[in-house]
Amino acid sequence: MKIFNTKQALQQYLLQCRQNGKTIGLVPTMGALHNGHLSLIKQAQQKCDVTVCSIFVNPTQFTNADDLKNYPRPIEADITKLESVNCDILFNPEVTEMYAANEQWHIDLGQLEHLLEGKFRPGHYQGVTQVVYKLFDIVKPDYAFFGQKDYQQYLVIDKMVQLLNLPVKLVMCPIEREADGLAMSSRNIHLTADDHAHALVLSKALAYIKDNFNGSNLSEVTHSAGEMVRNQQGVTLEYLEIADGETLQPATDESAHLVALTAAQVGKTRLIDNMIIR
Ligand code: PAJ
Repeated sequence: MKIFNTKQALQQYLLQCRQNGKTIGLVPTMGALHNGHLSLIKQAQQKCDVTVCSIFVNPTQFTNADDLKNYPRPIEADITKLESVNCDILFNPEVTEMYAANEQWHIDLGQLEHLLEGKFRPGHYQGVTQVVYKLFDIVKPDYAFFGQKDYQQYLVIDKMVQLLNLPVKLVMCPIEREADGLAMSSRNIHLTADDHAHALVLSKALAYIKDNFNGSNLSEVTHSAGEMVRNQQGVTLEYLEIADGETLQPATDESAHLVALTAAQVGKTRLIDNMIIR
């Protein structure tokens, strides 16, 4: 695997690839890789000739200084994992390589930015779109791969691509889960054994909604699922909502696509999960 730390070296190499007629797939990550990330790499490899994985813990998307400081950064283990799945390229820049000092710019993402995650992490999606825009500009991928795990993030990036007419196709990849249902996340390493057991209520509550939604009992199933989470010791619910899959506004009878989304504090760790209902 080729490893690049600078934009210039990466761009020079990718230029050659493009001149040789190769298509490029990008998988942006913040590292601490798990099978969810690796499933994105595998999808990229199926669709593209050259797969670039980026590992960059993006400071501008963190809304809590301790969360940024404590974010896991096991780069050697990550490199081993990427090599084990034959990833072609790792882009692993320093913060100064990605951002000028005091860089401030903003994309108007409309309502989508302020709902759900946006309400609990104001400014988060500005940081996400900043860094993803920069990565698209550097790599110029034909395809970019993102997980359904961060459903709202996918919609926000899709909105940016449409607004700015960016020449990249986005692919949403399914959520990889542990055998017990817990959605894989880099943050799971912070969970104690008790936290892990408590966190299972999140995927159970989402599955309850999926199994019991009959087309007309939206508020009942949402309420019961919310109670399941609220009654779980060690878990503090932030939100659990069924939303329109395209806008993330509260679901209506007319919504063709429905998704149930949740976020909760489990011990000291904040977790998110979602499930497509219709
Ligand atoms: P990170 O949390 O490292 O996730 C990188 C990508 O992996 C995202 O597209 C995310 O949705 C996907 N992913 C995470 N857990 C997954 C799982 N269990 N199954 C499938 N895919 C999963 O999301 C980010 O980083 C950052 O916000 C980033 C887009 C890199 C911008 O900094």
